[in-house]
Order: sequence, then C-alpha cells, then structure tokens
Amino acid sequence: MRDAQPKNIYLKDYQSPLFLIDQTHLRFDLFEDYTQVDSRLVMRRNRQQHQNNNEPLVLVGQQLALLDIKVDGELLTSADYLLEGDLLTIYKVSNNFELEISNRIEPQNNTALEGLYKSSGMFCTQCEAEGFRRITYYLDRPDVMSIFTTEVIADKARYPILLSNGNAVAQAELAAGRHSITWHDPHKKPCYLFALVAGDLMVKDGSFTTMSGRMVELKIFVEPQNIDKTDYAMDALKRSMKWDEDKYGREYDLDIFMIVAVDDFNMGAMENKGLNIFNSSCVLANPQTATDAAYQRIEAIVAHEYFHNWSGNRVTCRDWFQLSLKEGFTVYRDAQFTADMNSKTVKRIEDAAIMRTVQFAEDAGPMAHPVQPDSFIEISNFYTVTIYEKGAEIVGMIHKLMGDAGFRKGSDLYFERHDGQAVTIDEFVSAMEDANNTSLTQFKRWYKVAGTPRVDVVSHYDAEAKSYRLDFKQSTSEAFLIPIELGLIAQDGSVLEASLSSCAENKADCYDGQLFQLTETEQSLIFSDVAEEPVPSLLRDFSAPIKLNYAYSRDQLLFLMQFDSDGFNRWDAGQNLALDVIFEVMQQQKNGQPITVDQRLITAYQGLLQQSGLDYAMLAKAMLLPSVSYIAETQAEIDIHAINNARSQVQAILADALAEDLLCLYEKLNTQTAYLPEPAQMAQRGLKNTALAYLLKSSDPQYCQLAVNQFGTNDNMTDSMAALSSLVNSAYSTAASIALEEFYQQWSAEPLVVNQWLAVQAGSVEYGNLENINKLLSHEAFDIKNPNKVRSVIGTFAGQSLVNFHAVDGAGYQLLADKIILLNTLNPQIASRLVAPLSKWRRYVASQGVQMKKQLQRIMAQEDLSKDVYEVVSKSLAAE
Ligand code: PHE
Ligand code: ZN
Repeated sequence: MRDAQPKNIYLKDYQSPLFLIDQTHLRFDLFEDYTQVDSRLVMRRNRQQHQNNNEPLVLVGQQLALLDIKVDGELLTSADYLLEGDLLTIYKVSNNFELEISNRIEPQNNTALEGLYKSSGMFCTQCEAEGFRRITYYLDRPDVMSIFTTEVIADKARYPILLSNGNAVAQAELAAGRHSITWHDPHKKPCYLFALVAGDLMVKDGSFTTMSGRMVELKIFVEPQNIDKTDYAMDALKRSMKWDEDKYGREYDLDIFMIVAVDDFNMGAMENKGLNIFNSSCVLANPQTATDAAYQRIEAIVAHEYFHNWSGNRVTCRDWFQLSLKEGFTVYRDAQFTADMNSKTVKRIEDAAIMRTVQFAEDAGPMAHPVQPDSFIEISNFYTVTIYEKGAEIVGMIHKLMGDAGFRKGSDLYFERHDGQAVTIDEFVSAMEDANNTSLTQFKRWYKVAGTPRVDVVSHYDAEAKSYRLDFKQSTSEAFLIPIELGLIAQDGSVLEASLSSCAENKADCYDGQLFQLTETEQSLIFSDVAEEPVPSLLRDFSAPIKLNYAYSRDQLLFLMQFDSDGFNRWDAGQNLALDVIFEVMQQQKNGQPITVDQRLITAYQGLLQQSGLDYAMLAKAMLLPSVSYIAETQAEIDIHAINNARSQVQAILADALAEDLLCLYEKLNTQTAYLPEPAQMAQRGLKNTALAYLLKSSDPQYCQLAVNQFGTNDNMTDSMAALSSLVNSAYSTAASIALEEFYQQWSAEPLVVNQWLAVQAGSVEYGNLENINKLLSHEAFDIKNPNKVRSVIGTFAGQSLVNFHAVDGAGYQLLADKIILLNTLNPQIASRLVAPLSKWRRYVASQGVQMKKQLQRIMAQEDLSKDVYEVVSKSLAAE
C-alpha cells in the first residue's frame, strides 16, 4: 500500500490558468552524471480570464534538484517561496515578470522514460502527458502555450547531433570539447510537445515540396548501424505529407521535419513539434529484418505522428480529458490514409476486430471510461483503445452522418477557427455542426457514456402485403444516435430495391437507401413492394461501434458470405458462421458428445479457396477463424481452455479437409520474387503464410517440411518469421527448436529481430510454454528496463499465449504479477499497462477469477505503489 491515497482529478474542476508563459527560454547543459536546466520564462497573469486575481504563482516539478530562482533578476530567498512535494509556490509576483529557475536532473538514472532520459547512449525526451515537470518547474498543462527557444550544450565528440523543436538558429564551439546549438520554434505550443535529442546519430535526408511550393527538409536520425533501415519511413512520410494536403488541405508549416529513432520508448511514437521521436520498432525496417506487419505499422505510425501536426499541435487539447480530441481524430485520419494506400475493406476488418476484442473488453471491464472521461488518477492510464480507437470510430460516424463534403467543410472550419488554440471535444463537434448547419446534440452521448451499446434487430416479412419490417431495439434506456448502414439482399444475390414506406414517427428521412439513423430506443423500418423475403445486411462497413444481434440462420450467413456486396459484411458473415460452429463444438465438449463440424462451414471455406479472382488480402482474412479473444468477448463467463479446445478442434478439422486446396494455393503463391514492401506482394505473402499455418495444423506431418524449407530459403523476414511462427505454434517442437536456435545465431546482433524472436516464443499457443517464458526472462537478450523487450516477452505471453497465461494452477498469473511488482518502481507506465489482463478477473470462470484476484491483491499490498499501478489495480478490485 502507499502512504497517501492518490486523488482523482475531475473534469468539472477545470479552471483556466492563472498565469501564461509567452516565452520559454531553456538551456540544457548535458553531462554524464547530471544535466543542468536553466529556464527563463516570460510570464504574465491571465487577466483576461481572471480579472482580480492576485494569487501566488504555483509551478509543478517532479524529482528535480532546485538550485535557485530569480524574479525579474532578483534572487529569491527561502522566505519568498515554498517547495512542497511537487509544487513550487512563489508568493509575490507582479502582472508581468520574468522568472528564472535553475535545477538539476539525472537523466542517466531515469528508468521511467518520462522527461529527459538516456537510451542507448543518447539523450532524449518524452513529455506527453506530464513529463515536462521532470525537466523543470513549469505550468505543465496543455492550455499554457508558449514560444520555445532551446540551447543544448554537450560534449561534441559524444554528442555531435543536438536537436530540439523548430529551426537551428545559432551554434557555438565551447571550451573543453563542448558545443552548443540553439533551436527556435516559431509556433507556440504546450510543453508536452517539447523535445530534445543529443547523440551520435546518422541522418537520412529527404525533401518535400509543399502545395504552396515551399521546400521542406526531411531528416531521419538513427544510430549509425540502422541507416540502412530508413528508406520506408522516409517514403511513408512523403506520402503522408501529400495525402494530408490532398485530403484535408493541410500544409506543413516549418522548413524542417525531423524523426529520431530511439530504442527505449514507452509507446509507439511522439508527435513533438517538428521533431517526432519514434520507438525504433515503429520506424526502422529493411526487407531482411522487418516483416510486412512491421512495414504496415511504420506506414501507419509515421502518418499518425505527421498528421498530429494539425490535429494535435496546431490545434491542441485544453486539458487531458480532451485527449481523444487529438487522438481519436488523428487515428481516424491515419486509418483513412492506410485505407487509401492499401485495401479499404481489409483495414476496416482489422479495425473492427480491434474494437470488438480489445475495446469492447475494456468497455466491459473495471477501467471502462467514456471517450471524454470525467475523472482520472493518472492520465498515463488513459492512452487507451477507448480514447484512440473508439474515439476514431466516433469521428468516423460523424463522417458518415455529414457525408464526404460535409465532413471536409467541418474539418476545414475546425482547423481555421481554432488554429493556435487549446480546445475541447465540444468545440470539435460544434465546428462539424456549424459547417453543416445541423445539430449533433444527441450524437454527443457517444463521447460521454462508457460501454458498448447493443442493438437487437428482428425482421418480419408479410408475403401477402409484400411488406418487410425491421424492428430495432437499443439496449440502453436513453437512445444513442447510431448510424447503421444496411441493405436488403434478394434471393438471387442482387441488392433489393425496396421503397421505404415508413419510419418511426416524423422521421421519414432517417434512411437514405444506405444509411439508417437510429435515434429512438425502439424504431422500425417498413419497406413496401418487397416481392420476396430478403436477407438483411446490417451494420455494413461496421458503421457504428456496437454489438448488433440478428438471429441469422447458418444458411443466411452462407448466403451473405457469397452475395453481400459489402466486403466487410461478407467477411463478418463468415466469422459469425464459424463462431456459431465453434459454439456448437463447445457445447458438444461440455456434454461429452462426439465432436462434429457442420459440413457447410467446410464447404464454404473450400468455396473461398477455389474461387479464383478473390482479393488475396480479403481471402487471408476470410480464412482465419475468429480469435480466441474475440470468442471470449462473446461469452458471459470466459473459459479460455474450453474456447481454445473447441477452436483448435475446428481448425484441425478444417486443415485436414482443406489440405489439398491449401497446398495448391501455397504452391501457387510461393513464387520467388524479390521482396518489395508493397500491398500486392504483402497480400500474396499474407495469404501464402495463412495457408502454411493451416497446413501445420493438419494431422499430416509432411507439411512440417514445407515450413522448414521456407524458413531456410527466402530473402525476407516476413517469410522467415511466418515459417518460424507456424513451427512454434505446431506440434513439431523439435523442428521449432532447431529453427529457433539457428535464427538466434543469425540475428543476435539485431535488437529488433531479437525482439520478434522473443515474441514468437512468448506468444506460443501450445500448452506448456510457461517454463520457456522463464528461460526467455533470464536470456541474455532480455532486459527488464527496455519496454520493447518487456512487451515482447511479458506482454505477448499474457496477451497471446492464453492457455498458458491462464494455466489452471495460476502460475501464469503469478509470473505476470511478479513482473508488474518489479516494474512498478522501474517504469510505472509499463507496469500499469501489464495489469490489464488480470483486471478482467470477474469475467472468468470462478476457479480462474479467484486466482487472478489473488494476484491483484498481492500487487495492491506492495509498498510504494505508483499512481499508475494503484489506479488500475484498485479499480479492478473495487466492489462492483
Ligand atoms: N501522443 C502519442 C501518439 O499517439 C502517444 C504517446 C503518448 C507517446 C504518451 C508517448 C507518451 O501519437
Ligand atoms: Zn497520437
């Protein structure tokens, strides 16, 4: 337990700042054992918002050694200020003044990776959300925006490259082999967007000419050994810059844009103004070391951080309750970009899968929160799938409601109206409303209420009257506005042209032939002149983040798999069919009956394989059975082992039944083409490797050799890793061990590859993996202080090796709790994220839930629990 219980911070308590900082002048003197930070702040009272305020100035700082304070050049004595905990109160300041503060910090001992820290010999920063207070005393809140000038001083031989935001404006050679570079950022910004980097780095150069003809220098800084892994990020960056001009009319606004790759990073990347800092795993790639999945991740994250320049930096958040203002919108923008660069439908399928597994689970667990939360203990805990992905879904729904042109008018107005401001989610919605002359009052409920809405749909066909009715019923007592795309499909597979004869009272315009706006808790659509009973295709394109129930028969699902003109629903019909079959097998297992798999599922999958002309990327998605975590999410009480057994049985039966077709497909796709990270090739490799993974699940041992061959002969990491993964996740443990050993020998010098090697083992779905996890944790390649390694081993174990994490003796839970306790002091953010798998203990069968709870209680009893871990664990244990 901790001494004082951490406090909740409430949105309703928001107050605009009492002071503003017009200019921020920072000077960093970097040494090996400490860094001295000298700040000079040009400040004034915020008289516009607080007329008669004569309050003292209160700054926040964490783990800083204060040296001295001056106000308007006068050194303060200890009577002039109070330093208590994280707060520095300066009693007497005038309306306009200059504040100078000197303090020291120890970046070399910073394992939390917030503020200024060292990673692989270089200095770097991470200030979002509240890391700047670990650098100097400041008004560390996003609605205080300032013009930053930053001088960085360091030993020139060790740190030839010195970077900060904006443009380099001065440079000096200093005594004792030191040098200094001064950066000036002409755009005012909150301190969470501040960044500094110092290191011995190599740079990849590029350039981009903006729509108004300005030349922008592009630079990607990496450790020298990684310079051959920068091409793709540079290419993705240029495409992002062009796309944001074309799609949103957004031009870049500095003469230089820099990306730095660092090995130790808590998240994926950070959008610091003009100086993005990336987790090296989200920026570095070459064909030999990176998989297609990594390439796709890099493309999306480079775009995401770049897009923040407008949605986040030019227009930022008023307070952290508005986090989704920038994150939801930016995730939506990067999803659109990915959809444009690759397959739209496949991107939609992937995003829906994340919503339905991870986000719906979060929304049904103890950390459930609205997209605009109303309280938090530690903001770092709110960088969640709800804020990011559900936030993006909400923006997507606004897009559907406004249409393309209306949405663009809304975003234009938003950027124009709020440029240079720190605003709220409400202001984003208002811009959309005003630009379209419409009201989104009811719609805003999406931002304020946690939980996943459910909609039950029932259909009635009246053959005599030739009318067809769909009744919709929302699960919540107060209705959401839910955009539901739908179509009716005739028996010959064509889209039925039916006319709408009535909607709910006075809502004649609620359906435009594609999009139905459900606004009531109960509402019906009645179609007339319907010659035959159609099959409804509901929630096309996953048009809202809800659970929609309609009692499809298996034959109807088979029909939709074949005929639905909406690609997403074609895929979803297949998933629902497979799900239904898996449920049946679970039931058979429970009753001790023999296992049978509905022949129609097998025939349908066969049909998919034999159907020529189907998009490879789509086919790969269609072939995959619903994941264990998705199936778990559909259960009232989760029994991972029952789910896994049933799913594996179905998978094995399918693999045997389809083996010939799969082999045929594999051979057709296994062409020797030089690797390119482009969509068509990625789709081909993806499908080929899906076929391979299936074949290794069949009972015929001959296919093991296929994986062994692919592992030995290929020119790219995608195919090596896929072969290795199919071996590790199979019964061929000897072949897997040999391949793993060989792989490590070859790649031990490439940390990003070694992380994949750790992850593929940690995530094994084969029983008995726990012992191996312990080996990996003591392997020379593991380092508890490196978040990527922690995620590769511990995160992947708890998230993917589900039957082992949920080992019946509770050993998996105990292992995770041990590591959370260790990380609680080293890196609270990482520790806290690892609690999620345990936090949902109430959803599991009692025998497991009790053991999960026990581990949470053990964590709770620790001394010095960080705010981060405390919040998640205490909320998980709180009475319902
Ligand atoms: N703002 C970053 C992004 O989503 C994420 C991040 C948050 C990174 C906090 C570091 C710390 O782009
Ligand atoms: Zn972001």
